[in-house]
Amino acid sequence: MLGGLRRASSVGDLLTRDLASLIHPLHDARAHRAGHVWVRGHGAMLIDADGKEYIDGLSGLWNVALGHGRVELAEAAREQLQTLGYVSGYTGSSNERAIELAERLARLTYPGIDRFFFTSGGAEANESAIKVARAYWKLRGQPTKTKVIARELGYHGTTLAAMSATGIAGYWPLFEPRVPGFIHIPSPYPYRAPRRGASSDAPEATYGVTIANELEKAILREGPETVAVFLAEPVLGVGGVIVPPDDYFPRIRQICDRYDVLFAADEVITGFGRTGRWFALEHWGVVPDILQFAKAITSGYFPLGGIGVNSEIAGVLDEAPVPWMHAYTYSGHPAGCAVALRALQIIEDENLVAEAARKGAHLIGALHACLADHPHVGEIRGKGFMCAVEFVKDRDTRMPFAPEEQIGARIHAEAQARGLFSRVRGDVFVLAPPFVIPDDLLDRIAGILASATTAVLG
Ligand SMILES: Cc1ncc(COP(=O)(O)O)c(C=O)c1O
Repeated sequence: MLGGLRRASSVGDLLTRDLASLIHPLHDARAHRAGHVWVRGHGAMLIDADGKEYIDGLSGLWNVALGHGRVELAEAAREQLQTLGYVSGYTGSSNERAIELAERLARLTYPGIDRFFFTSGGAEANESAIKVARAYWKLRGQPTKTKVIARELGYHGTTLAAMSATGIAGYWPLFEPRVPGFIHIPSPYPYRAPRRGASSDAPEATYGVTIANELEKAILREGPETVAVFLAEPVLGVGGVIVPPDDYFPRIRQICDRYDVLFAADEVITGFGRTGRWFALEHWGVVPDILQFAKAITSGYFPLGGIGVNSEIAGVLDEAPVPWMHAYTYSGHPAGCAVALRALQIIEDENLVAEAARKGAHLIGALHACLADHPHVGEIRGKGFMCAVEFVKDRDTRMPFAPEEQIGARIHAEAQARGLFSRVRGDVFVLAPPFVIPDDLLDRIAGILASATTAVLG
């Protein structure tokens, strides 16, 4: 009992105990000393152990799309946990919620993506995408097709293969050697593209097609007979909310078809409405062969992710003479699937995909109104309800600040002091609030970010 009382302690004490007992994702003990210990959430708000309220500017980690404190999601988990808390999903064993969720995803996702494998999160989804691609080619008699082409600035998780696909080099050094057979090509980054007139051996090609052609060059360099799959996020999230030109993914699809390379879309962030469509490639009329998802499928209330594959891939697995030796204990967890089914129902009932599109436009408008004239705001960008503000030293030349100046980190700290909690990548401040956030809070986010910017940059 006394122990219980002692535990109702100050944030300083909690952080001391935390640091003595926990290792965190992206562990950095120095940075964590000024961390938060969160105790409650409601809607788009988070409350820390000091009792201070913050706007959850990134929906947790891009996942809490339905906001905090949703009783329906807790109820869905409770009901399922009381009925059947766990059962194996290995061959020979299944459960009704997993079947229902797969059927529902077949209706919701891209045409042709109609068979599903569940994981506990996004990295496992990417591992599964890579392993299903390699297995597919082996079973089709092309065992040399094993390489994975991914992109610079792409983020796919931190397990070893997902980390090897990730194209943000800071994730590698402590853990190398990386898994062999992973190649990176440049991502489209319109703001950092060669300025008009400065580039181009093929002046008639757009930037989108030129940068997509990097995939063709890489496939030809490696040999099409060695490449299994191209892995890409439709909109780069962790890399800094970078939106491709409209003609990029249609061209990617053509290249994958031409060289018999599977296209695996990492929609771990973009899936389930974040970009204002159920799935982001819908913006460009493109269908992947493999779809990776996680995060918003349960709104973060249960760890669940997975992949969907087309019937061609599923058919090859069905006909295989050997089992697909890939498995997770928690694949198709009944409580996770029950929460996902409820979350998807809420997205439909509350028309939240359209709301995400509308609120994204509102937020981008508010950011423009508050920040567009600031001399160090290089670009305000976004797709649907994922947005970013990129700060630069010189707006005309787009020259970045020196990393030692820590501009992004300082603006992040000032924003927190004003009640906005989100994340930065370098000097790019990213935003992806819950779909249920009220409009006036969107204006407040823009106001806080403007004031934090002034505090750091004048
Ligand atoms: C696009 C993308 N893929 C994969 C992942 C990894 O997901 P997880 O952290 O659930 O393993 C993330 C996480 O942010 C992500 O943004």
